[in-house]
Amino acid sequence: MDELEKKIEKFADLIVEAENIVVLTGAGMSTESGIPDFRSPGTGLWNKVDPDKFASIHAYVSDTGKNLRFMLELGMTIFKAKPHQGHKALTKLQRLGKLDGVMTQNIDGLHQRARTKNVIELHGTANEAICMRCDTTYPITALVNQVVHNNSSPTCDKCNGLLKPNAVFFGEALDSDTLKKADKMIADCDLLIVLGSSLLVYPVAFYPRTAISKGSKLAILNIQKTDLDSKAEIVIHAKIGDILPKIVKDVEEKLEER
Ligand SMILES: NC(=O)c1ccc[n+]([C@@H]2O[C@H](COP(=O)([O-])OP(=O)(O)OC[C@H]3O[C@@H](n4cnc5c(N)ncnc54)[C@H](O)[C@@H]3O)[C@@H](O)[C@H]2O)c1
Ligand SMILES: [Zn+2]
Repeated sequence: MDELEKKIEKFADLIVEAENIVVLTGAGMSTESGIPDFRSPGTGLWNKVDPDKFASIHAYVSDTGKNLRFMLELGMTIFKAKPHQGHKALTKLQRLGKLDGVMTQNIDGLHQRARTKNVIELHGTANEAICMRCDTTYPITALVNQVVHNNSSPTCDKCNGLLKPNAVFFGEALDSDTLKKADKMIADCDLLIVLGSSLLVYPVAFYPRTAISKGSKLAILNIQKTDLDSKAEIVIHAKIGDILPKIVKDVEEKLEER
């Protein structure tokens, strides 16, 4: 057995032994579906755009048209994307009784499309628009249709307020009900698995730290190193789509042997 196979087996053992398993996913979960992440060297979106000029609420309000043009490009990529083997492996893990829920930083809805249940979208969703004045939500098509018809400041049917994609922008707070649900997930878990996150975006990056400090185990599958690698029981630096299906297959076999 080579080093990687040993690590896969150890990862699977941790899952088999744990009772309440929660997965935290970041943008690296979706790169193999064709959606770029922010921080991968060379391909990450931050190589192409300045975060302050895009995806901050201040930039959105002050230059809505320009921001929306960029967002619609990303939106089209999300619209065309399909869940990959890694998303499907998580659904299988859940069907094996080994995944309570997923908390994701992603706004693409790919976990739900892969039919994973109990998914918390910490940063909201690109599939909806929300009115910045009255909080009414719409399917994202309500915003896109207006932009396509040259309205660079799409508005709410009810109150004429400015619509924005219902994703959390820099400078905005995370939804408090969503945070409460995520807090409970962390409080209840004995194993937290991090998939495809640099763990640099707060407050989400607090979750693995909280999990460790209350005695949960941590497992990480991410191409690049993270600041929490040294605190994890197991770390694999590889692609989710290559490795996660193997881990889940191992879990399935181990459960059958029991
Ligand atoms: N798909 C999306 O919805 C999407 C896309 C880009 C950004 N975002 C937003 O940007 C923020 C960025 O923070 P983040 O921590 O999620 O992402 P990040 O870009 O900071 O980090 C992504 C991490 O995933 C790793 N990675 C990339 N591809 C991988 C793969 N195939 N397998 C394993 N690891 C892989 C990278 O090495 C990197 O460390 C998120 O909070 C999210 O809201 C979302
Ligand atoms: Zn409104």
